[in-house]
Amino acid sequence: MFKWKENFSVNVKKLDEQHKEIFNIGNFVYDLISMKDDIDRFDEIMQALNKLRNYAKYHFETEEKLMLEHGYPKYEEHKHQHDSFIAKINSLDEDAIDEDQRKVGLDLIMFIANWIEQHILRTDMEYKEFFNKKGVY
Ligand SMILES: [Fe+2]
Ligand SMILES: [Fe+2]
Repeated sequence: MFKWKENFSVNVKKLDEQHKEIFNIGNFVYDLISMKDDIDRFDEIMQALNKLRNYAKYHFETEEKLMLEHGYPKYEEHKHQHDSFIAKINSLDEDAIDEDQRKVGLDLIMFIANWIEQHILRTDMEYKEFFNKKGVY
């Protein structure tokens, strides 16, 4: 489902590794909801949601710290996007209480797909050259 490719690279090793982990979490959820049996996997989906929230926080902090260290000019708007992703994950968590697991799983997958497309491939990509010029790889 989510396949990391070389052209997704932001050319900073640890950030690429972290992005790959986000793809892994997406694939884990995709596998869970693709199973055609009727086994309840709500707990696993909720665990994945928690993992994603914790990992997102950790990853955003890594990027933001690096941006501050090197005086990245678009720090504020970038951080703003991070903050809205965290808010969105928290709202998924609240929705999950009343929703069925398939819906929560699908929402989670849509959320990750959107994150990859709108943020990693666009907003994150904008720091690639900046960091490389500062000697950060
Ligand atoms: Fe990122
Ligand atoms: Fe980012």
